[in-house]
Parts: sequence; C-alpha cells; structure tokens
Amino acid sequence: MDIDSLKTQIDSEIQGVDSPEKLEEFRVKFLGRKGILAQLTSSIPSLPAEERSAFGQQVNALKNRTLSLVAEKQKSLASQPARLTAGIVDISMPGIAQDLGRLHPLTQVTEEICTIFQGMGFSVVEGPEIETEYNNFTGLNIPSEHPSRDVFDTFYLKYKDRLLLRSHTSPVQIRVMKSRKPPLAVIVPGRVYRPDAVDASHSFMFHQIEGFMVDEEIKFSDLKGALEAFVKAVFGQEIKMRFRPHFFPFTEPSAEVDISCIICKGRGCSVCARKGWLEILGSGMIHPNVFKHVGYDPKKYTGFAFGMGIERIAMLKYGINDIRLFFENDLRFLKQF
Ligand code: PHE
Repeated sequence: MDIDSLKTQIDSEIQGVDSPEKLEEFRVKFLGRKGILAQLTSSIPSLPAEERSAFGQQVNALKNRTLSLVAEKQKSLASQPARLTAGIVDISMPGIAQDLGRLHPLTQVTEEICTIFQGMGFSVVEGPEIETEYNNFTGLNIPSEHPSRDVFDTFYLKYKDRLLLRSHTSPVQIRVMKSRKPPLAVIVPGRVYRPDAVDASHSFMFHQIEGFMVDEEIKFSDLKGALEAFVKAVFGQEIKMRFRPHFFPFTEPSAEVDISCIICKGRGCSVCARKGWLEILGSGMIHPNVFKHVGYDPKKYTGFAFGMGIERIAMLKYGINDIRLFFENDLRFLKQF
C-alpha cells in the first residue's frame, strides 16, 4: 500500500469526523489491532530486506501522526456543546428569539427630567438613601415636634444613632450646600421611603427629583421660569401652570405647583377631581434658617428649591392609574414603554 495516499486518506477522513462515535470508527479503522496501519506493520517481514527499515520508519511515523490527530479531535469534540457533537443540529429550526431589554419607565422619565434641567445648566448629584436625622429634618428647619418626624411617618433605622431612610430628597440640599459654595444649580434624583400603606397611589418606596439653585439675587421668578420650561418640555407647549400657596418648613414662601389637567385640558374630569388642575410638585424660596444651618450668609444668598415625585409625573404622562404597576415587574406592563 502506498504510504502517501494512505496519509492523504487519513487527513481527509479525520475532517469528516464530527462525533465521538465517528472518531472511534476512525481509530479502529486505522489504528485498531486489525486496522490498516497494523496490517502494514505485519506486512514488513515479507518485504525485500533492503526496503524493510525505510518502510517501517514511514509506517511508524504515520501511526504517530494518526495518533495525534485522534487526540486533537478528541479535544475539539469535547469542547463543543453536546447538541453539535451528537450531529443533530437542525439548521432549519427557528431560533429562540432573545427579548431585547429596555429601561424601566421610571428610569426613562428620570432621565428625561434630568436632561431637561441639565439643558438649563443644572448638574445631577446623588445622595445616600440612609440619612442622618439632622440632614433629613433638623438642617431643613423641620422642628422636632413636626409630625413627619414621627416614627409612623419615617423609617428609623437605629433610633439612638439618629439614622433613618430618607423620607425625601431634600437632605441632599444640606449635603451639597455644606460641601460646595454658590453659585449652585443641582438636581437630585433618587429613592425615598415612607411607612405608608400600599394602595393605588401610595408606596413605602418611591422616587423624587429635588432641584435647587443658590446664588446672589435668585428670585421667585427664576423658579417660575425654570419650572415653566420644565412642564412644557414634559407635557407640551399648551400646558398651563399655576402656583398655589402652601407651607414647607424649609422654604419661605412655599408653593405647590399645578398643571392644567392633561386629560380634560382644564374643563374638569375624574382624573383631576373636577378641578381642572393636577398637583405635580412642591417648591419655594429656600428658608434663611436652612442657609444658617449650612453656613451660608442669608443676607448674601437666596435660592429656590423644588421637589417632585417621579411616579406621579410618569403616571400623568402615560395615563397610569396604579403606582403598584411600577414595582410588580410584570412584563406585560413594562413592555409598553
Ligand atoms: N421635600 C418636599 C416633599 O417631599 C418637596 C419640596 C422640595 C418642597 C423642595 C419644597 C422644596 O414633599
């Protein structure tokens, strides 16, 4: 038998081996006790004496080569998935469609709001969800007897260390003002916590965006201008906005901001309880006592602050009627955004 053509045959047959079963067949055929190479070896004594040594060497070399081909193939088969090595790939079978992920509607709305304020020169800052009682209340001019400081209205972590889950994003005002000097224009997105019973409009955890600006001569009209640009960017140019007098300990004067009802356009419907207006945020001019707490001179600096619930904005924007939908991870809901 011609060694060269046997070598060619071996090289081409090993190519076709695609399963452990076929590899075993291949091994038996060429390397088995009665295989082709063994037969060649046993034919050596019958050769003319002068050819034996050279032929013997060639057969041996081919045997070693074939052994290493088998070893290589064994390795490459072992590293392939079983489905492939078993030779049962059906390339006509439809694939398994991979669902494309997307951002949660609250993340989308948060990003949209941040982008709008960044366009007005605000920068985004985040603060911790575990806060000190000082930053969450005292520094914000909220007196010890204020009902929001009650254990029924705030999650206290370790009462003796005065740590709690922040009940609003306003404590980040204190953090930022203590660590920086005016001029400041900052927005703060983040989670907040309140021990409310869960229903269609309450959750023990929700999201807010705080915004504030501090400099010399910041006026209420600056607040109005910034908020008007914001509500028009989110709800459209036709939207109307109004300030309604209110009280917050950390702003003076304080106001709640309403927008004209996006469902009935102000005529009065069930969503706006026939008022024609929807409350969207709290705001005001930063109280001088807050400036005193952070070491700013209240005669030199003024500023505005506002805070809004992100769920509320998202619910109005998309017509969602139950806050719990945001947190149930039901893909039928989430896929709509
Ligand atoms: N922190 C207030 C709240 O959670 C909102 C607010 C922020 C009001 C800033 C005025 C100024 O209700």
